[in-house]
Amino acid sequence: VANGLAKTPPMGWNSWNKFACNIDEQTVRRMADAMAGNGMKAAGYQYVVIDDCWHGPRDAGGFITYDAKRFPSGIKALSDYVHAKGLKFGIYSDAGRLTCGGRPGSQGHEFQDAKTYADWGVDYLKYDWCSTGTRNAEEAYTLMADALRETGRDIVFSMCEWGTAKPWLWAANVGNLWRTTGDITDKWDGKHDYALGVLPILDLNEPLHPFAGPGHWNDPDMLEVGNGGLTDTEYRSHFSLWALMAAPLIAGNDIANMDEATRAILLNTDVIAVNQDPLGVQGRRVRDDGDLEVWSKPLADGSRAVILFNRGAATQTIAVDWTELGYPASLQAQVRDLWSKKTLGKMTGRFAAPVASHGVVMVRVSP
Ligand code: DGJ
Repeated sequence: VANGLAKTPPMGWNSWNKFACNIDEQTVRRMADAMAGNGMKAAGYQYVVIDDCWHGPRDAGGFITYDAKRFPSGIKALSDYVHAKGLKFGIYSDAGRLTCGGRPGSQGHEFQDAKTYADWGVDYLKYDWCSTGTRNAEEAYTLMADALRETGRDIVFSMCEWGTAKPWLWAANVGNLWRTTGDITDKWDGKHDYALGVLPILDLNEPLHPFAGPGHWNDPDMLEVGNGGLTDTEYRSHFSLWALMAAPLIAGNDIANMDEATRAILLNTDVIAVNQDPLGVQGRRVRDDGDLEVWSKPLADGSRAVILFNRGAATQTIAVDWTELGYPASLQAQVRDLWSKKTLGKMTGRFAAPVASHGVVMVRVSP
């Protein structure tokens, strides 16, 4: 995108998956404190984003206000607080008359709202798609992109259209990321009302790999890591696969109250380095043997991030041949396990490992 932002996938925290409409300034401050102090900021997490339900009514001039009960100090003060922690501040609106939570949307107020956000010091806008009627998505998102550009402020534009209008075909020059699916929910598989578990989202997002690149990313929705619905093994798989798909890494849990397993997942700097690799290629599935899969992502230094993924019910060994990674079979390469953090040594031609049910083995293969 011409705004020059999000050269690597955005990293941060968003209020929705854990708090939904039950959000207030104290909670946001607590999350900013946590991110700055618990290692997340050092690991690359940056944006603190308030999702739906922060809004008050529009004032007499048509400008948006905030819910003064939930945000008594105001959004500008909250943004200042987040900035003082060395972090960036994000907010949410909607391209329709109303947000999904029934608050005022930006339709007809795009330039006013963009100006308000810039005055508040907003660095990231998530722009939703409820109550849009017959609006054309490309036009609606382009209008807000124009409004954001006119403010002169650097604002990452996160487009939340859910994939119906195929934003991957037109949005690379409009926004920095676009949702490719409906909402994620804290489940491994299946459809739950309007929301999807991790597996169906994974399978919808994977084929879109050609459309992602620096400044413009496929967004398979925010992380559920730490929200309690999956096993730690499944959360490791969720995080590993999102990282390999160059997805935005937006934590969606209570990052001020994390158990050790959750911390170890969100703070795995080897896996984060795969996600943030400057080459900016979205990894993909290179082999599908039913329940057993191999995924690969080329990295800037010529190495590959590789995931062996087992969807089955029992531990099974999965092997990958170098030729599947685009390497000659004769190549000798260093293999490092990104979860055990052990260098496994030099290997020629292939690598194989037992993989737990619903689990991954994630390695970096370096020639
Ligand atoms: C739908 C979006 O897809 C969610 O991520 C969240 O922003 C909600 N709307 C908020 O109402």
